Amino acid sequence: MSTPVQEPKVYLPPQELVKSAHISGLEAYQRLVAEAQQDYTGYWARLAREFVTWQTPFTQVLNERDAPFFKWFEDGRLNVSYNCLDVNVERGLGDKTAIIFETDDGQVTRVTYRELLARTCQMANALRSRGIQKGDRVVIYMPMSVEGVVAMQACARIGATHSVVFGGFSAQSLRDRIQDAGAVAVITADEQLRGGKQLPLKAIVDEALSLGGCDTIRDVVVYRRTGGNVGFNAPRDKWLHELLDGQPDRCEPAWVEAEHPLFLLYTSGSTGKPKGVQHSSAGYLLHAALTTKWTFDLKPDDVFWCTADIGWVTGHTYIAYGPLANGGTQVMFEGVPTYPDAGRFWKMIQNHRVTIFYTAPTAIRSLIKAAEANPDVHPKRYDLTSLRILGSVGEPINPAAWEWYHANVGGGRCPIVDTFWQTETGGHMITPLPGATPLVPGSCTLPFPGIVADVVDETGKDVPWGQGGILVVKRPWPAMIRTIWGDPERYKKSYYPADFQGKYYLAGDGAIRDAKTGYFTITGRIDDVLNVSGHRMGTMEIESALVSHTELVAEAAVVGRPDDTTGEAICAFVVLKRPRPTGEEAKQIAKALRDWVGKEIGPIAKPKDIRFGDNLPKTRSGKIMRRLLRSIARGEAITQDTSTLENPAILEQLSQTN
Ligand code: WTA
Repeated sequence: MSTPVQEPKVYLPPQELVKSAHISGLEAYQRLVAEAQQDYTGYWARLAREFVTWQTPFTQVLNERDAPFFKWFEDGRLNVSYNCLDVNVERGLGDKTAIIFETDDGQVTRVTYRELLARTCQMANALRSRGIQKGDRVVIYMPMSVEGVVAMQACARIGATHSVVFGGFSAQSLRDRIQDAGAVAVITADEQLRGGKQLPLKAIVDEALSLGGCDTIRDVVVYRRTGGNVGFNAPRDKWLHELLDGQPDRCEPAWVEAEHPLFLLYTSGSTGKPKGVQHSSAGYLLHAALTTKWTFDLKPDDVFWCTADIGWVTGHTYIAYGPLANGGTQVMFEGVPTYPDAGRFWKMIQNHRVTIFYTAPTAIRSLIKAAEANPDVHPKRYDLTSLRILGSVGEPINPAAWEWYHANVGGGRCPIVDTFWQTETGGHMITPLPGATPLVPGSCTLPFPGIVADVVDETGKDVPWGQGGILVVKRPWPAMIRTIWGDPERYKKSYYPADFQGKYYLAGDGAIRDAKTGYFTITGRIDDVLNVSGHRMGTMEIESALVSHTELVAEAAVVGRPDDTTGEAICAFVVLKRPRPTGEEAKQIAKALRDWVGKEIGPIAKPKDIRFGDNLPKTRSGKIMRRLLRSIARGEAITQDTSTLENPAILEQLSQTN
């Protein structure tokens, strides 16, 4: 007997929103898709004229001669910070609140567009006073703060290329990024305050620089956040407030070419070394502005809140650039969702009358658990009636979490935009538009207008709808990655592999399109990248960190397994240079190794499970059979063929929990 196929539940956009939205109704969406289909470059050129203020207008739209090194709007010149700040002040929005900033301990400050412009100019002048120029790389290792956004905008203003490093990365990771980028300065803070705890950012910068290889660094600029004690190394170190003192609040922007690198952002790939994803100025800004407006239906009266950290791409596009480029008002938060209790997000939505809320499935899943355990932090206890649109980003959102978010946070009336995209794509790629797209929980629905996403097989041939395959993008788009900093060959190999004759952008995810509607569902990474709490981690990166503990570790293999809260969890299989430990000893060594990985990469990379074996399952040619390890990590029976295995007995040993 066959089980009946359950039709997925469909949520139509609320009528009122269909009427008022920027993209109103599915036909409006389809018209845009058709426009892009008929005249691809004409479509993007039209939007680039509408959404970007140019100092020198472009005459060329897309240059594909040096594919896959695509160039957009090549002969145009602009300044991104001018577009995010000056343009709004000139439009009469000088007194409008740009940022409502709430600290970890609940203090609120508001910054207008005029103030944000003045502060950005002062910081830009301060950076210039240190000799920082167009093209120089500046590493920003900052807490969530207005100063963090100002630092990014100030770099953009003078044409310096910023590279923000997430505050949770270790000294070693920071050093690697500084070195790879050849940065001339680091902007940091004395300490970061999250969940009532201080994290010593400046001390980590000191340690990073002491590890060597950072000779390009001339300045370390320190924002005083907590007033905590920090070591000071003159003349290299400078207090930000001293540098800003007396700086004029006007600063002529550097007019840069459209392709000028606005920022590098390091992310994990399938090999050990993180890659510096390089983004452009104009194409990136266009997509940041456009997607913020269309995907969130951002209107002048909205209060937008993206909970991401500026250390990740979501914080770049949907905090530092997109909302500002639209003259929007946004909330920015220093702390964590569970402090002082797990009602913090709901309380902030209530207090600031947030209308658009954008967060990650991991946060939702952990807040569901908290609300189930303690009714006082349930969203129903708060007045969330200001909300009109919800968003999700970073990993697949499971239908159960989607339904809960929709019912309990959105009161059943707010569409959820499940936005699929990547560090490399610059902005949303596949996403509903809230006044146009019928929603199906668990599906990111349809490509953003102008994005030619599809599903193909290993040879690049289209697969029919209803059949799983590899997610690709068939045409270059303005906000795409331009190259991997310092490694153009790796860029080509990673994203335009020969398997597809170098024609398609390979996202690294699997996907399936619904047989009837063509809706996309992302089925997860197809490479050795894990997604833990929405953070991208390379398994090889964690393996390298483990084996760099040369005293203890002989060999290590890392795989992922599903986790209810974090999406995926990191599992490490380790062979020690001493007999396989058990019991208390195993626990102690596992803890030591976890701490070691925390120190090497950052706390986010600490394996959840560590299992010890006398060996790892290998083929006769010595290759580790990771798919078997994946099954063991999931606690599944091994059904795969193990006949090529050199040492089948090892499977049993590894299956025992230590
Ligand atoms: C995953 C974050 C399913 C995906 C913006 C992608 C998603 C990786 C979604 C990029 C989504 C992101 N549904 N999966 N809505 N959004 N992903 O570079 O595997 O940190 O390749 O960018 O996250 O992660 P990244």
